[in-house]
Amino acid sequence: MSKSFGPDFLWGAATSSYQIEGAIHEDGRGPSIWDAFAATRGKVANGDTGAVAADHYHRYREDVALMAGLGLQAYRFSIAWPRVQPCGSGRIEQRGLDFYRRLIDTLLEAGIQPWPTLYHWDLPEPLEDAGGWPARDTAQRLAEYAAVVHDAVSDRVERWTTLNEPWCSAFLGYATGRHAPGRAEPAQAVRAAHHLLLGHGLAVQAMGEDARVGITLNLTDVSPLTGSPDDLDAARRIDGMQNRFFLDPLLHGAYPEDVVDDLREVTTFEHVREGDLKTIAAPLDFLGVNYYSPMLVAGGGPHTETAYVGSPSVRYADGGRPRTSIGWEVDEGGLLALLLRLHSEYPALPLYVTENGAAFDDEVHDSGRVSYLENHLGVCARAVEQGVPLKGYFVWSLLDNFEWAYGYAQRFGIVHIDYATQRRTLRDSARRYADIIARGGL
Ligand code: FCB
Repeated sequence: MSKSFGPDFLWGAATSSYQIEGAIHEDGRGPSIWDAFAATRGKVANGDTGAVAADHYHRYREDVALMAGLGLQAYRFSIAWPRVQPCGSGRIEQRGLDFYRRLIDTLLEAGIQPWPTLYHWDLPEPLEDAGGWPARDTAQRLAEYAAVVHDAVSDRVERWTTLNEPWCSAFLGYATGRHAPGRAEPAQAVRAAHHLLLGHGLAVQAMGEDARVGITLNLTDVSPLTGSPDDLDAARRIDGMQNRFFLDPLLHGAYPEDVVDDLREVTTFEHVREGDLKTIAAPLDFLGVNYYSPMLVAGGGPHTETAYVGSPSVRYADGGRPRTSIGWEVDEGGLLALLLRLHSEYPALPLYVTENGAAFDDEVHDSGRVSYLENHLGVCARAVEQGVPLKGYFVWSLLDNFEWAYGYAQRFGIVHIDYATQRRTLRDSARRYADIIARGGL
């Protein structure tokens, strides 16, 4: 097995604004849905919030120096919309943009490609008050914000990601309520998904033809527990909601008919207007793939999780594999299957793994994370070898951070953070990753 990725393969790490920045009241930043959600009792483990997080807003120079020391070639971060437009529309806060200008310049000076994501879940609270993603206007607001950011830094940014994991924004945010804004309204979640996709398409337009733009989806490999008709149907439904409901509109300009049928009881799809799908299917420069774990599913109920709108009797089954501290099963085979599938369905589409990583508690000697990294990079190498146009890999995450509803209890960093002192310490996985980057492969 060849373990070389070729000289152009891009090696990176990923983070997101609310998870690492802190400084939520600084330089005119407005409130986001995550501030409000985290402030609501019982929503986030231990009552944790992103108020300080990894204090990256003040320590970004130190963090860029860490990245340079590891030999990272690219850094995937997100821009906090409420820093740029504190009210979610209209007035632009230059001090917020200045932070990202400084970050980008510091990265470029260190020889690291800045790769911003426009929206990694921190919606300005005033937009949620006006209806949030279920409201069509929010898509237009995203495009307006995209144009503002693009104007400010397009001379220094080569590639852009519009959205991170719209499935989570829509279905965890508006169907299970496990993420901000914490609403449990399935019909609204389906509308939210549509407006996120529409916002993506409008943002692509707003950034202009020269911008190289893609989107990041949380895709997974879905298998039925057995060959029974119920289990096969469960796998079809979950693959439909999780993968095809996003891939098909983006890449084929249509929602999958079977999923639309599954959702008939939930919504009428009246919110989809003429021309929307054409906007959504704007050509992509790349697809970002976030992969953590495969899904093994069974039908026949009772169902596990209300996130699966349109899948009333589906439950997750146990694949019997080891799990990380967050409870996610480890199986790199799912990543290989997913990459091969994407390549066979969309042969010309360049792919990047924009997130992949593991939660473990160990302070420094994180052997579980080291083998997770090696095994997942191993299948990336196999995919490249089999002709998949996989162009880069971003480990999640550079730093320990605010893991959404889990708060600080789950640690994904290749760099450990002592939150009491904000001291950064390289874990073994960071050293191993640096070594892999230096060799250009495993
Ligand atoms: C993904 C998110 C990212 C992080 C990882 C663990 O779903 O995009 O912010 O929380 O999971």
